[in-house]
Amino acid sequence: MPIITTEQIPKVLWKRRKRPSASHGTHTLHLPRFLVDAYGELIDELGLRTAAEDISPNDEGPQGGMTEEETNLHFARNFSGSCARIELVMLDPREMFKTTRDLFVKLFAGGRLHLLDIPCGAGAAGATLLCLAAELRNEGVLPRNPLRVTVVGGDISAPARQIKRRLYRKLKPRLAEVGISVTTSVHDWNVKNADQTSDLIERWIKGQKKTAKTAIFALNFSGFLSQRVDECKLQLREFMRYGRTMGASVVWVEPCTNAAIQHLFPGLKQHVFGANPRIASTWEDCPRQTECRVAHPIQRRGRFTARAAAMHLEPVKEGA
Ligand SMILES: C[S@@+](CC[C@H](N)C(=O)[O-])C[C@H]1O[C@@H](n2cnc3c(N)ncnc32)[C@H](O)[C@@H]1O
Repeated sequence: MPIITTEQIPKVLWKRRKRPSASHGTHTLHLPRFLVDAYGELIDELGLRTAAEDISPNDEGPQGGMTEEETNLHFARNFSGSCARIELVMLDPREMFKTTRDLFVKLFAGGRLHLLDIPCGAGAAGATLLCLAAELRNEGVLPRNPLRVTVVGGDISAPARQIKRRLYRKLKPRLAEVGISVTTSVHDWNVKNADQTSDLIERWIKGQKKTAKTAIFALNFSGFLSQRVDECKLQLREFMRYGRTMGASVVWVEPCTNAAIQHLFPGLKQHVFGANPRIASTWEDCPRQTECRVAHPIQRRGRFTARAAAMHLEPVKEGA
């Protein structure tokens, strides 16, 4: 497996600041170009440029929603924050998470990959990771081995699922140029509903090719889930149980809010991960947290701060 050192992270993704400062750090994170281009096109098609150019702070912005209006606002105002968070965790330029960059390389260096993206919303997690792999290929940091990826997504919001479809339609031909072929499906899923959860897991399991590496990415669910882990624990445990039998890595990423740090992660440890000793965190001190400045994909010279808290879990090997 190729290794990417911090020094090898290309400038197009992690750029040294002209005037480093204690509060803003030495570098700025950039979203991968395929993603920036496709996102910008979709923002225009949806008539959301004014909302996306709004520079007022949006840390506590909308959490997505069931209506088209709420979903569009979330896409315009918060999507880039979601993308930055998963990039910050998986590229790990600040060397906080230690195991995630190697995991990213293992998953995206070539071959077959089978992902579960929950709740997928407009597709931030999968889209960012695929475009990150493309950028690293374009920069000669990752080899251009054929990579065939399937992404199964689940979300309760129909308008968000529709945006995800449109975003992937834009990304697929771009990704194909660098040897990444992508097949996606997106499903109506309510985490509170046990049958829908089993259906989503079944679809994910059925789609797996024998040689595929697998991973579950859970991103930005604390707005809904932080006070409901106990209520949803059986469904969440089902993901972990089947994830383990499929040999899946699990990465859970949230913003560094009280809801995530004080409620969601402790709830997950107590009710979900703790109940399955066959899947374990790769770090004892978890979640780990970090932050960085990010170049806004729409606002000219715009910068914002992304704060990410994450857990990385791996199946425990038999006999370990
Ligand atoms: C903050 S957004 C995150 C979406 C995506 N992971 C991202 O990072 O952009 C939260 C998502 O949770 C979804 N959601 C809310 N309640 C849900 C539920 N009960 N079951 C499944 N998804 C839900 C919303 O529709 C929304 O897309």
